[in-house]
Amino acid sequence: MSAAIFDQVRTVLKAIEQEAPQTPEELEQFRIRYIGSKNIIKPLFDEIKNVANEQKREFGQLINSAKQAAEAKFNALKEQLESAADAGVAGNLDLTAPGEPIELGSRHPVSIVLNRIINIFERIGFVVAEGPEIETDWFNFTAMNTPEDHPARDMQDTFYLKGSTEMLLRTHTSPVQARIMTSQKPPIRVIAPGRVYRNETISSRSHCQFHQVEGLYVDEGVSFADLRQTLYYFASEMFGATKIRLRPSYFPFTEPSAEMDVFLGTETEQTYRLTKGTGWLEILGCGMVDPQVLENCGIDSKKYTGFAFGMGIERQALRLYGISDIRSLFENDVRFLRPFTAVV
Ligand code: DAH
Repeated sequence: MSAAIFDQVRTVLKAIEQEAPQTPEELEQFRIRYIGSKNIIKPLFDEIKNVANEQKREFGQLINSAKQAAEAKFNALKEQLESAADAGVAGNLDLTAPGEPIELGSRHPVSIVLNRIINIFERIGFVVAEGPEIETDWFNFTAMNTPEDHPARDMQDTFYLKGSTEMLLRTHTSPVQARIMTSQKPPIRVIAPGRVYRNETISSRSHCQFHQVEGLYVDEGVSFADLRQTLYYFASEMFGATKIRLRPSYFPFTEPSAEMDVFLGTETEQTYRLTKGTGWLEILGCGMVDPQVLENCGIDSKKYTGFAFGMGIERQALRLYGISDIRSLFENDVRFLRPFTAVV
C-alpha cells in the first residue's frame, strides 16, 4: 500500500518537472492543477494516515517537495512571462512611448572648411585627387624642383621615416601634383586635399600636422590670367571678397610665383583684427608650374603650361570661427567640437 502511494507522489513530481506552460493561459492551468484550492497534491497529504509510522517522515518530505517544486516553477514561469510581456513580445508594445534619444554628431571645423573649398572648385570642373601621406623624397622634393640644399629639405622641417633618407611624411600636398602629372595626360584639373606634416614646435599658431589643399591645372595655353580669375572666383565664393591681390613670391615649383591676399576691409572689429588693420588677408601660395616640374613629370613643357596653388586649412578655420588656438582643433574635446553642428 505505502509503496503505491509513494509512487503516486513521485509521478506527480515528475509531471510537474515536465510541464512547460508557454502562455498565461497555460500557466493558469498549471496553477489550478498544482497550487490552487483544488490542486491534485492536497488530497495526497490525507494519505499520510495510510503510511506506516516509520515511513511517515519520508512521505511528508516527498509530498512537501512536490508542493515546493510546483510553487517554485510557477513563480519562475510567471516572472518569465511578465518580462516577455514588458519587452513587447506578448503584444504589449507601447508604440506611443518616446524613443531613446539619438546623439547627433557634428562635423569637425576643418572638414567643414575643407568641404566648402572642394565644393567651390568642383563647380568649375576640378576633380578631387589624393596622394599618400608617407611619401618619397622624389615626389615631395626632387620632382617639385626643390634643390638638394634647399632649407625645406632640412631634417628639422621634415619627418623622415626611421633610418631612411628616402621615405618621409609629406611636408605639403604639392607631391600630389607630381603623382597626377606622372600618371595622367593633360588636360589635368585637380584639387588635392590632405594631411601634411612638419617638424615644428607646437604652439598656439603652429602644429606638426595640419591640412592643405593643392590645386593644379595643366593644359595647352593655360595662362597667369586663368590663375588670377580662378583665384578671384574662389575668394569671392569663400570669403565674399570683391578684391584680391597677388604679391610676387618664391616657390621652387612655380615660376613666376605669387602669394594671394583677399580684401576683407577693416569695417568690423573682426576683419580689422584679422587683417592687422590693413584690410588684406594672406590666403595662399600660387604660380605658373615651373617648366622643369612639367619635364620632371614627363609632360612636354613646350606644348603645355599650368598653374598651381596651395593653401592651409586650419588657419582659415581659425579665422572663420574666431578660434584663437590651433591646438584646440586637435584635442578631440567634444565640448569644443559640438557647437560646430550649427555651422554646416
Ligand atoms: N606647397 C606650398 C607650401 O606648403 C604651398 C604652395 C605654394 C603650393 C605655391 C603650390 C604653389 O602649388 O604653386 O607652403
